[in-house]
Amino acid sequence: MQTLRDLGLLEGRRVLVRVDFNVPLDEHGQITDDTRIRATLPTLRELIGMRARLVLASHLGRPKGAPDPRYSMAPAATRLAELLGQPVALAPAVVGAEVTRLVDELAPGQVLMLENVRFEPGETANDPQFAQALAELADVYVNDAFGASHRAHASVAGVAALLPHAAGLLLAQEVSRIREVTEDPRRPMVAILGGSKVSDKIKVIERFLEIADTLLIGGAMAFPFLRAQGHEVADSLCSAEDVELAGALLQAPGAVAGKLLLPVDLVAAASFSADAEPVAVDGVDVPAGMMGLDIGPRTVELYAARVAQAGTVFWNGPMGAFELEQFAAGTRALAQALADAPGTTVVGGGDSAAAVQKFGLAQRMDHVSTGGGAALELAEGKLLPGVEALA
Ligand code: 3PG
Repeated sequence: MQTLRDLGLLEGRRVLVRVDFNVPLDEHGQITDDTRIRATLPTLRELIGMRARLVLASHLGRPKGAPDPRYSMAPAATRLAELLGQPVALAPAVVGAEVTRLVDELAPGQVLMLENVRFEPGETANDPQFAQALAELADVYVNDAFGASHRAHASVAGVAALLPHAAGLLLAQEVSRIREVTEDPRRPMVAILGGSKVSDKIKVIERFLEIADTLLIGGAMAFPFLRAQGHEVADSLCSAEDVELAGALLQAPGAVAGKLLLPVDLVAAASFSADAEPVAVDGVDVPAGMMGLDIGPRTVELYAARVAQAGTVFWNGPMGAFELEQFAAGTRALAQALADAPGTTVVGGGDSAAAVQKFGLAQRMDHVSTGGGAALELAEGKLLPGVEALA
């Protein structure tokens, strides 16, 4: 992959930077977590320092190919301006005569944010004409949107073929950290996978059963495995399809060799709600009328001991319903175990990244990915369209 340095002198040149400012907003349209914006600052500051003219492109949410004020990039542009300490103008559209005029008027070191690229139907369709319209706004293309790099969209993949291009610092760092832990990990390598569905993570489970020394399973994803072993899961999240998949995974050579560990105790409740009373279950048979919502203390001890001995830990997916305090203990304890671990610790994005942020432990990880789906696909060993386009 080409880096920023390979692009040569950029003074006065128009640089289209694809960023992933797909940040969570509350009901008032306020950003609740600006990690993804902060993560691009090194690249943006470097380009500003080189006196390039910056044109930023991002998506936010999933608007349906037409302008929709609920998905405007305005909050992200405002936040970025605060973080950079300089104005960030917001274009009224993604492409078109007015946008071209604003780009032409940019002085070296100035920043313009385009409106949400998904306001254009050509974005998700990777339409060559739309990619061309984007390319006409710039002399050079930089992709720093690791979180969107698994999408073969126009601003991620299509436009890269039309301009001299390079990886931004965030994208390059994400790719190298995740490849390093999956391709050449210090051993023992411990993978921890949680979250809700086996079917969503089947490929990554298969891959870690091959490459990891130990695979620890938690979250609702544990129930199909426990069910396949004949345990009672009662009202826990557990589809028949997932039980079938889990049953097959338990026959995989890695699982047969004893790499796959499942919870040995649980925390359950009658419902998934803020006032639900947590009940400790010693063992893994969920009492009738209840659902498992966290791993129990013996499981935490078992898993934390593996983490403490690991050369490398890769973690994706919470151990329970950590958004409710009474079911957060398992996820919090595991996050703490990673924070204290002497080995290299990498947290895949999405909910597990949100969890380490919430517990104030993100700074104590070696790497917390800004990509959810992208981090998982890279960990699976898939080629990401946005990364391949930079080759
Ligand atoms: C993400 O949040 O994972 C990325 O920004 C990609 O968003 P998408 O799933 O809507 O393509």
